[in-house]
Amino acid sequence: MRKEELRTPCYVVQKAKLLDNLRQLQEIREQTGCKILLAQKAFSMYALYPLIGEYLDGATASGLYEARLGFEEMGKENHVYSPAFREDEIDEVLKYSEHIVFNSFSQLEKFQDKAVKQGVSIGLRINPEHSTQGDHAIYDPCAKGSRLGITLENFRPELLEHVDGLHFHTLCEQNSDDLKETLKVVEQKFGTWMRRMKWINFGGGHHITREDYDKETLIECILHVKETYGVQVYLEPGEAVALNAGSLLTTVLETGKNGMDYAILDTSAACHMPDVIEMPYRPPLKDSGMPGEKAYTYRLGGPTCLAGDIIGDYSFDEPLESGKRLEFLDMAIYSMVKNNTFNGMPLPAIVLEEEDGECRIVKEFGYEDFKMRL
Ligand SMILES: Cc1ncc(COP(=O)(O)O)c(C=O)c1O
Repeated sequence: MRKEELRTPCYVVQKAKLLDNLRQLQEIREQTGCKILLAQKAFSMYALYPLIGEYLDGATASGLYEARLGFEEMGKENHVYSPAFREDEIDEVLKYSEHIVFNSFSQLEKFQDKAVKQGVSIGLRINPEHSTQGDHAIYDPCAKGSRLGITLENFRPELLEHVDGLHFHTLCEQNSDDLKETLKVVEQKFGTWMRRMKWINFGGGHHITREDYDKETLIECILHVKETYGVQVYLEPGEAVALNAGSLLTTVLETGKNGMDYAILDTSAACHMPDVIEMPYRPPLKDSGMPGEKAYTYRLGGPTCLAGDIIGDYSFDEPLESGKRLEFLDMAIYSMVKNNTFNGMPLPAIVLEEEDGECRIVKEFGYEDFKMRL
């Protein structure tokens, strides 16, 4: 099937672009000896896990279900971190994991005996309390009062006997200069204990596959830590794996006017691209411009009852008409993992576009997917 024939809305993941990202990540692994894991929270299209597993070392999970998915569908190194694991899930979590990262010494004390018994390598998430993010406080684990990671004040070296690794995650869509800056603080604060570790995990948020990303600085950072502390370095990017590797196809249902032109699409910001509202951001839209840049400007919104279900204002060369197809870009990440069926909205199908442009429907959803959750 060709892209033009697909029923909208649907997420279309482009294999060619995914492969391009994976090859870039593989190069970093080869040049540094670091290991790279897919952060499933960003992209869990498990039909592609066997392919991703050919280029990366494994997957990382935010809890039981992702841990199980990574274990069952990728079957390589499987890591898991959660701000707080549950007593009634920990045995199963450990069954799927090679590495487990605890968020506090309290969690370590609660669960380390079980982890040791199962031969699972234990890590601790540290919080260097050094923010390098400007705009998005919601994505800043170093923000004041953060529950994520152990601060220096709360660090208890006397409890490190079974701890093999340290993990920090502080970045979001950032370049390697911010990693370098963060690393300096991590070393100042936690360097003494980094020497006693087997591995250090730099977390995610590295926008490695973005065009302007400075890979040389990333490589320097990895080699520096590897050589100074004699540790295995891990990275666990989510976005970088599937960055710009998918789109969301949609169709204009209606147009109208209320002070300005608007169009109602068959996709919803609130349901199908929740980060547009949560983050918030304006997703790129193919063949469109900023408001006023082209002749016809429209406010694009979803068909839900939520007044704020607005994707953004975009301009076009021609007026929009009902039936016109539009393509939002960079929609593989944090989209299908976060979508919902508010208002009874159908979930978009998940489609894989092969390298020759042929499209294969991987998954379709219907009424039962809405009903079964309620
Ligand atoms: C602990 C951890 N690791 C990895 C990631 C992946 O980050 P990204 O998708 O920005 O690369 C996140 C994202 O929130 C995270 O919290």
